[in-house]
Amino acid sequence: MHEIIIGRSPADLEKYGNRGTGVIGRHYVGRKGEQHMTTTVRLDLAMPHIIGLFGKRGQGKSYSMGSIAEEIARQPDDIRMNMAALIVDTMGIYWSMKEPNERDFQLLALWRLKPKGFPVDTLIPEGLVPLFNENKIPFDGTYSFKPSELDIGSWALTFNIDLDTEMGLLLAKVIKFMNEERDDFSLEDIVQKIKEQDVEHVAKEALMNRFIVAQSWGIFNPKGTSIFDIIKPGRIAIIDVSQFGLSSGGWSVNSLVVGLLARKILEERMKARRQEELEGMSGSKATRHMPITWMLIDEAHQFLPAEGITPASGPLLQWVKIGREPGVSLVLATQMPNKLHQEAISQCDLVISHRLTSSDDINALAGTMQTYQKYGIADYYDALPRVKGAAIVLDDNSERIIQLRMRPRMSWHAGGSPVAIKD
Ligand SMILES: Nc1ncnc2c1ncn2[C@@H]1O[C@H](COP(=O)(O)OP(=O)(O)OP(=O)(O)O)[C@@H](O)[C@H]1O
Ligand SMILES: [Mg+2]
Repeated sequence: MHEIIIGRSPADLEKYGNRGTGVIGRHYVGRKGEQHMTTTVRLDLAMPHIIGLFGKRGQGKSYSMGSIAEEIARQPDDIRMNMAALIVDTMGIYWSMKEPNERDFQLLALWRLKPKGFPVDTLIPEGLVPLFNENKIPFDGTYSFKPSELDIGSWALTFNIDLDTEMGLLLAKVIKFMNEERDDFSLEDIVQKIKEQDVEHVAKEALMNRFIVAQSWGIFNPKGTSIFDIIKPGRIAIIDVSQFGLSSGGWSVNSLVVGLLARKILEERMKARRQEELEGMSGSKATRHMPITWMLIDEAHQFLPAEGITPASGPLLQWVKIGREPGVSLVLATQMPNKLHQEAISQCDLVISHRLTSSDDINALAGTMQTYQKYGIADYYDALPRVKGAAIVLDDNSERIIQLRMRPRMSWHAGGSPVAIKD
């Protein structure tokens, strides 16, 4: 059957056909108001991409992000085992991917799909295990970071401390001390070290308080989790950061978690890439590799904002700038592309955008595409059928722009709007 493959260049299409792609929707054809769905649209998952996933509130971004993750999980073993995915779950909604979407079995049948749950790993901060247990919230594993993995800048950004202030100077001094001494220190050790300093009382108290609060995040442990226990071949890990988002300064903690993970994954992928090259030359096979990794980030503008920096800005920009060679991919979902870092926008090779109406946001998209597509994007939005999941695709790889309906989810989507009237 004829199908459209987005994210794949004509040369790669010729070479690989539709291997390593996943069904994400169907092409809309016809004039405004008369569109009907035709050809299947597949998305390339085998090559590195920066995908912008945009749209107004409630139009289907989080839902579509789940569909992309499902397609990664549905790859045949020989492809899937070379890949892994990490979903940054800011709303605590992706755990439900384990459950089949029975609710929409009729809709799925129209697409010749069946409800299906996927084996995802929901990971929570190690220190929050008692809290999750108490509230009977299930999880599959935990994660933590060594305090020594954070440099002075990361601490400063996380705590929103200006390094030129009294407190900033103290922070820099103490972290430098700690890092020079050993690499398995705890937050308590840092607090102790601050206490020992002979400096102004107010700055000392304020800094100690910040580290005491940081203990409650549950993400620090002198041992830390190996990144290989988080990112596993063929698996989808879900990092639930929703509990930090609501507290004050919560986005900094979220960003710190994302930044640390992004940095480690990229480092390991760079090592893996070298190993893969060597293996390619010698024909031998090394043991443990970081798989080609997809990171899917909901509310991405909070992590990589257009203005200001977060602890995730640097590591994510690295992914954006140099991620193609080591083979890391990003899906950046946001309501406001205009608020996403300009570099990320301009490096998107693929944009899947549900309805957008603000002209600032629409104009931001023009920056992603080459001249051949810059004009008339607003017309494409205007002509989009007014149904959930309808989207336009701007694809730099195949140099085309299409309208599509994203497919229904096979797994349960927990992110719908609550309705006061019960069925
Ligand atoms: N492709 C689709 N097919 C059918 N229904 C869909 C589709 N996409 C979205 N929906 C419906 O729309 C609802 C809202 O989608 P979703 O939660 O993804 O919105 P969102 O764009 O992430 O919104 P927000 O910006 O508020 O997070 C879903 O719960 C689902 O019922
Ligand atoms: Mg959403």
